[in-house]
Amino acid sequence: MRILSGIQPTGILHIGNYFGMMRPAIALQESPGNETFYFIADYHALTTIDNPETLRANSRGVALDFLACGLDVERGALFRQSDVPQVTELTWILSTLTPKALLERGHSYKDKIARGLPASAGLFNYPILMAADILIYDSDLVPVGKDQKQHLEMTRDIAVKFNETFGARPDGRIFKLPEPQIQAATETVPGVDGQKMSKSYGNTIDIFGAEKETRKRVMGIVTDSQPVEAAKDPDKSTIFQLYSLLAGQAELDEMREKFQRGGTGYGDFKKQLFGKLWEYFEPMRKRREEILKDAAYIDEVLKRGAARANEEANKVMKRVRAAVGL
Ligand code: TRP
Repeated sequence: MRILSGIQPTGILHIGNYFGMMRPAIALQESPGNETFYFIADYHALTTIDNPETLRANSRGVALDFLACGLDVERGALFRQSDVPQVTELTWILSTLTPKALLERGHSYKDKIARGLPASAGLFNYPILMAADILIYDSDLVPVGKDQKQHLEMTRDIAVKFNETFGARPDGRIFKLPEPQIQAATETVPGVDGQKMSKSYGNTIDIFGAEKETRKRVMGIVTDSQPVEAAKDPDKSTIFQLYSLLAGQAELDEMREKFQRGGTGYGDFKKQLFGKLWEYFEPMRKRREEILKDAAYIDEVLKRGAARANEEANKVMKRVRAAVGL
């Protein structure tokens, strides 16, 4: 199976990205028959970033952090979206048969406009670029967060319309229809204010933040004002929810029991959470330091990934161009 996903290089990666997207993406590499195509969606990021240094630095940063978190480059390609410029060609071709009304229904577009982003044509067409990303590699499975579900549905709609319009190949299709794999965890990683963890809410805990800053973020988690003695509800607590992503079952049961018994203040629970968090990412911090020692490594990985991605994209584009008459 070919598994494909993308991540936008919009900023420093946080533990919501890790548990929602990166960890499941890395886990999918474990099945022997799988080949993963994971890319850094820098064309998409242009809808929100207009500083070239920022975009370049963020893109490298995502590659570094993904590798540090355990992505295995022997089991798949890691590449920059823009290293396969054919996706923009495919975006154009797809846009000529994508109904404008389909895009107008986009939740993500409407949300972004509501949050004050300028309504550029690029932002509006974002789902077509995403469809091109997916269809150009004959992807079988696309693991994404719940917020991307509609984009996946649009991708399938566009692929079906294209296949119907331009006729089926002898094997019955031009585009393969990708299956989404929706990661429920993305919804359940709360930020320090209890809302969904997101860079745009300013409530993140970074994966590779400095120790002091990370401790400060954890100690700043919003809680109710129950006194130390009171019994507390673990299931309503951001501290407990975050702890449950990191701790083993026995540790979790122990914290649950302490919440319910009373006599422990939120400050102590936060210290315990910080300790666990720091320990959890320790091996990844070490690997990250190692990678940083070899200045050429990231470039090599991205170059190899780009070559592999181009190989697949060129096959599909050959089919597409022939089908439409280019
Ligand atoms: N839009 C996705 C996000 O913001 C990133 C993305 C771009 C993507 N192209 C993709 C994800 C293709 C999966 C497949 O998270």
